[in-house]
Amino acid sequence: RVGLTHIPVVVHVVFHTAEQNIGESQITSQIDVLNQDYRALNPDIDKVPEVWKPLVADSRIEFHLATHDPQGQPTDGITRTQTQATKFNIRTNAVKHSSSGGHDAWPDDRYLNLWVCPRIFDPKDPNEILGYAQFPGGPAETDGVVIGHQFFGTTGTAAAPFNGGRTTTHEVGHWLNLLHIWGDDGNGCNGSDLVMDTPNSGGPNFQAPHFPRLSCSNGPDGDMFVNYMDYTDDKSMFMFTQGQVARMEATLDSARSSFNG
Ligand code: ARG
Ligand code: ZN
Ligand code: CA
Repeated sequence: RVGLTHIPVVVHVVFHTAEQNIGESQITSQIDVLNQDYRALNPDIDKVPEVWKPLVADSRIEFHLATHDPQGQPTDGITRTQTQATKFNIRTNAVKHSSSGGHDAWPDDRYLNLWVCPRIFDPKDPNEILGYAQFPGGPAETDGVVIGHQFFGTTGTAAAPFNGGRTTTHEVGHWLNLLHIWGDDGNGCNGSDLVMDTPNSGGPNFQAPHFPRLSCSNGPDGDMFVNYMDYTDDKSMFMFTQGQVARMEATLDSARSSFNG
């Protein structure tokens, strides 16, 4: 892959109340954050601890709202659907189908589908889900990323501490095949994200930790909690590494190669 990869994005706004029918400025604020974060142009990048600055990487991926719909007609890249549903089940993917109160995906080889919905829940988890993603290789009908409207963009209904647009940065990372940096093994030290330059770490970090945060004998620098693929607050995550970008690169050369050229 040489040069930039351009990803056309369709935002499916699925709303119950008028407030959840988020405005265009909230949507463009999210696209702007993606374009900063994926090119290492985010204004907070200087907060990366000195030791990890050499690992900061530009993915050369850019995102823009689709200008043509699947039929080739001009579009603003936004669909709007009023629904009877007040919350959406992460297990059923109801938000991804018009027949179940959501909106059907656009072809996943041409668009990144981003659904923005009232509320996401997991029947097996009491916590609110900020967002979720489908990894490469899954069914086209459910491919894409789902985000609760309060965790989308930086303005409008976006609410602190998740009003930095980083939930979408994180979920698009999964869509490009990135794993959580702690290796998804609970708090153990055996899990891996299959990336060489992210330190081995125990479990997820939350809120706004202070550097260094040690686990798994990973001193002196500790967990890379400033990475987008941890669980810290939006204001505490600022980087992807070279190794993570290599993994995105591999995805764009294989499962998601339709976005090249
Ligand atoms: N899938 C994660 C969740 O729903 C997303 C975490 C995003 N983290 C963030 N700081 N925005 O909890
Ligand atoms: Zn995640
Ligand atoms: Ca671990």
